[in-house]
Amino acid sequence: MFNSFGEIFRFTTFGESHGKAIGVIIDGVPAGLKFDEEFLVSELDRRRPGKNRFATQRKESDTPEVLSGVFEGMTTGTPISIVIFNKDQKSKDYSNIKDIFRPGHADFTYWHKYGIRDYRGGGRSSARETAARVAAGAVAKMILRELDIEIEAGVVEIGGIRAENIDYEYAKNSPIFALDSEAEKKWIEAIDKAREEHNSLGGVVKLRIKNLPVGLGEPIYYKLDNILASAMVSINAVKGIYIGNSEAHKLTGLENNDEISKDGFLSNNCGGVLGGISNGEDVELEVFFKPTPSIFKPQKSVDIYGNEVEVNLKGRHDPIVAVRGSVVAEAMAACVVADMLFLNMTRKMEYIKKIYQ
Ligand SMILES: Cc1cc2nc3c(=O)[nH]c(=O)nc-3n(C[C@H](O)[C@H](O)[C@H](O)COP(=O)(O)O)c2cc1C
Repeated sequence: MFNSFGEIFRFTTFGESHGKAIGVIIDGVPAGLKFDEEFLVSELDRRRPGKNRFATQRKESDTPEVLSGVFEGMTTGTPISIVIFNKDQKSKDYSNIKDIFRPGHADFTYWHKYGIRDYRGGGRSSARETAARVAAGAVAKMILRELDIEIEAGVVEIGGIRAENIDYEYAKNSPIFALDSEAEKKWIEAIDKAREEHNSLGGVVKLRIKNLPVGLGEPIYYKLDNILASAMVSINAVKGIYIGNSEAHKLTGLENNDEISKDGFLSNNCGGVLGGISNGEDVELEVFFKPTPSIFKPQKSVDIYGNEVEVNLKGRHDPIVAVRGSVVAEAMAACVVADMLFLNMTRKMEYIKKIYQ
């Protein structure tokens, strides 16, 4: 339960940053889905480290091996397991922090909770685990594609600089998944400056789910918005999310309410969710990432014996995690939507009776 997500479309990830492999087991995928392995590879490639200077320089090919659940290119309805072998671990980089808690990382809490930790690259707390989520998300997207449901994301803010325009098509080819070409120039300057100063930046990802039917989400404790929030905040370095217009809390009720006409809603401040249920508009959210904790400046900390120490990190790190994080956010959204669709099929007698027709 602690490493699994979803109810019917349910995935479980395993593995550590510098262990032999990471991977995912996905249960609940219906039989008869065309399994698009090329698409799986391309999704992992979008998240892959080492691609450009905006990502960590760890060189992983992230080549997936599909071990089960697929026969002659089709899903069989049995668990799909996908494994990705780790190739470019440089565990030596971490020997100097073996007994030290890195500020901003999970070292302190893992040590105090478990009394043992795999310090190499952050072990299980490393965002290497998010490659396994992207694999699960790719399978969820294979289902959603057949229903014309599309999920798009990109970066809307970096280092406090906000995009003025939102262009999801532009983001697809941007090296930093920028939603705005003008802001992109400023962001690249800011990222390069942060790197030169051995520092890092935070950022915000904007995400849109298109073509959802009305009715996804199960009140009260399995609402579409609270499950999306749980999915997003489970991603490393995510500190919060906003559903709909992220300025809504500054508006009045009159400004914020989405009026309704016989042709549909006249605005979408609610981000496509009302009462925890999709209303048929695009579901829109923003995901807030903190700055990368690993920075190359001396910082104060303590070791496992309680001595005060100065932390001087080595290794390879993302100068901003929101960039690759946007691919992970898409994957998590896809898993939530696939799960919500399957759950929804059990929520009306009419749907159940269809099986007997
Ligand atoms: C895609 C992605 C890549 C990341 N890469 C790094 C990295 O290179 N260096 C680092 O220090 N943190 C990185 N992080 C963030 C850490 O994993 C995370 O901040 C840390 O485990 C502490 O967890 P918390 O921030 O959720 O509290 C990354 C996060 C994501 C989503």
